Amino acid sequence: MSNPKITLSELDIPLKVLFTGYLTTVAIGYLFALIQILFTHGMADGKFGLSLDDIVYSYYGNRSGTVLETKLNGSMKDKATEKERFAIMQWVRDGADEQAFTNQKIAKIIENKCEMCHNSGASGIPDFAEFENIKALTKEDEGATFTSLTRVSHIHLFGISFIFMFVGIIFSFSTTASTQYKSIAIGMPYAFLIIDILSWWLTKLSPMFASLIMLAGAGMGASFAFMWVISIKEMWFINNPWFCAPDSRCQRTLKIISGVSLNSLAFIAKKARTELFPKLLSLLKNAVHWFFNKMK
Ligand code: HEC
Repeated sequence: MSNPKITLSELDIPLKVLFTGYLTTVAIGYLFALIQILFTHGMADGKFGLSLDDIVYSYYGNRSGTVLETKLNGSMKDKATEKERFAIMQWVRDGADEQAFTNQKIAKIIENKCEMCHNSGASGIPDFAEFENIKALTKEDEGATFTSLTRVSHIHLFGISFIFMFVGIIFSFSTTASTQYKSIAIGMPYAFLIIDILSWWLTKLSPMFASLIMLAGAGMGASFAFMWVISIKEMWFINNPWFCAPDSRCQRTLKIISGVSLNSLAFIAKKARTELFPKLLSLLKNAVHWFFNKMK
C-alpha cells in the first residue's frame, strides 16, 4: 500500500488560511505573554528587563525583606513618591503596627496612591481597604506561594501543551527539515515546558535553579519560532510562482532563511544535549541531596 504524504505547500488554500490564522493568533498571544512577563516578573527587582534577580524574587522571594518592600522597590515603585515609599517601608520596619498605620498617615498614602487599584473590585490583587490584607504583606517575602504555583502550573501544562499540539501538527506536514530535525523540533517544546514548570518549583525551594527557568523559556520560544517560520514559509512562499519564480533571487533568499533556521535549531539541540540536560541532571541531584539533608 502506498503511503501518501500531505505536504504544507500542496494543501488547499482554505486549509492554509486556517493554519495561518491559527499560527498568527498564537504568535500574537505569545508576544503578549512576553510583554506580560516583562511587566510583572521583569519589574520584580525595580529595573526594567528580565534578569536572574527578577526570577529569584518572583519564585524564591526576597528573603531579606517583606513583600510590601520588595514590591515598593519593584513593580509598584512608580505608584508613590520616594518620600511616601520611604514612609511605608519605615512603618513596616518598625513592626507594621495598626495604631502607627493611622497615626503616621500611612493609611492616607495607601488610600490616595494605592486603593484606586487595590480595592474590593479588583481581582487577583489584595484589597488595601482592609488592614489585614496590608498586614499580611509585611511578612518575610517568600516569593510565589504554593497555591499560586499549583494553579499556574496546571494552567500552563494544559494550555501550552495544546498550543504546541496544533503548532506541531501543522509543522509535521513540512518538508524543509529531515525527519530527525522535525522530531527534535516537535518534541523539544514539551521537554522545555516540563523543565520550565519543574524549575519554578525548584526555584521556589532554592534560588540556584533560577537560570533553569530562563533556559527553558528560551528553548520553548526558539522551537516555537522555528516551527512557525518553517510552516508559514512552506505554505505560502515555496512552489508559489506568483510569489517567487523558481531559480529567482527570492528563492535563493528563502533557501538561506531556512538554512539559518535549521542551523539555529541544530545549535539549540546540541546545546540542550551537551549543556542543558547534564546541568539539569546535576541540579536535580543537588535538589535530591538538599531535600534529604533537610529531612534528616
Ligand atoms: C495602577 C494600579 C495599581 C496601583 C496604583 C498600585 N498597585 Fe500594587 N499592584 C497592582 C497590580 C496589577 C499588581 C499585581 C502585579 C504585580 O505584582 O506587579 C499589584 C501588586 C501589588 C503587591 C503584591 C501583592 C501580592 O499579593 O503579591 C503589593 C504589595 C502592592 N501591589 C503594593 C502597592 C502599593 C503599596 C501601592 C501604593 C503605593 C500600589 N500597590 C499601587 C496594581 C496597582
